[in-house]
Amino acid sequence: MAYKILEKEEIAPSVHRMIIDAPDIAKAAKAGQFIILRIDERGERVPLTIADFEKETGKVAIIFQEMGKSTKQLAKLSAGDFLEDFVGPLGNPADVRKLGTVILVGGGVGVAPIYPQAKAYRSAGNKVISIIGARNKDLLLLEEEMREASSELYIATDDGSKGQHGFVTDILKKILDSGEKVARVVIVGPPIMMKVGTGVASPYDVEIIVSLNSIMVDGTGMCGGCRVMVDGETKFTCIDGPEFDARKVDFVQLMNRLAMYRGEEAKAVEKYEEECRCGLH
Ligand code: FES
Repeated sequence: MAYKILEKEEIAPSVHRMIIDAPDIAKAAKAGQFIILRIDERGERVPLTIADFEKETGKVAIIFQEMGKSTKQLAKLSAGDFLEDFVGPLGNPADVRKLGTVILVGGGVGVAPIYPQAKAYRSAGNKVISIIGARNKDLLLLEEEMREASSELYIATDDGSKGQHGFVTDILKKILDSGEKVARVVIVGPPIMMKVGTGVASPYDVEIIVSLNSIMVDGTGMCGGCRVMVDGETKFTCIDGPEFDARKVDFVQLMNRLAMYRGEEAKAVEKYEEECRCGLH
């Protein structure tokens, strides 16, 4: 079954939003879950967090940055084109409950998965303080959407071209230091940002959650490509996560795995597809 691309827009340089006609996924999706798509029959599996969904219209939004071959190929498609596969929702939904005040921190394309969480936490009755950041103002994603979805919005850019000059984690520290009673901090972004953010929030009496969603191959617990060490145990991001207690995540191991990610991923996909051809999956 092919999935139609309804809309496509470049929302920042090399960052695209696509709206896909996928009613079954839109109906079942919850904040924090992801999909895996394939452009064509021979395509690599691309995992992407669901950036938005509308049950009524059956639309599912994804946001991606052109990085490797598949995302560059994906960026060439337009409204009216079709994707071979669009599978989901995968992973566990975010544990959204009424907690009081929740801080959501999103960096770079990590702002995309934060957006549905902001909406979900807000409609569960929480005060949502969002902190979003990027290298510069042109790369800042979803500012208006995040402003609407949040009770308060703070912005940081590395070069100071918008919001506070500095990092999202600087603002996080300032809010935690202000004495505001915060129940939970959710951080999504590059692993180094999640590591630093976890370090900043750890001394405070607050739950810290990170969403690890970028290192997957099959997305169903079979390939082991997404393994992470959490509390000294191997966990699979795709079926045990993508959210984990940040204090327990081994970020150094995660970053080491990501450093070899590109080569590894290509090999893993090749191996996996070879195994599929041999009927092993
Ligand atoms: S992506 Fe393969 S086990 Fe998780």
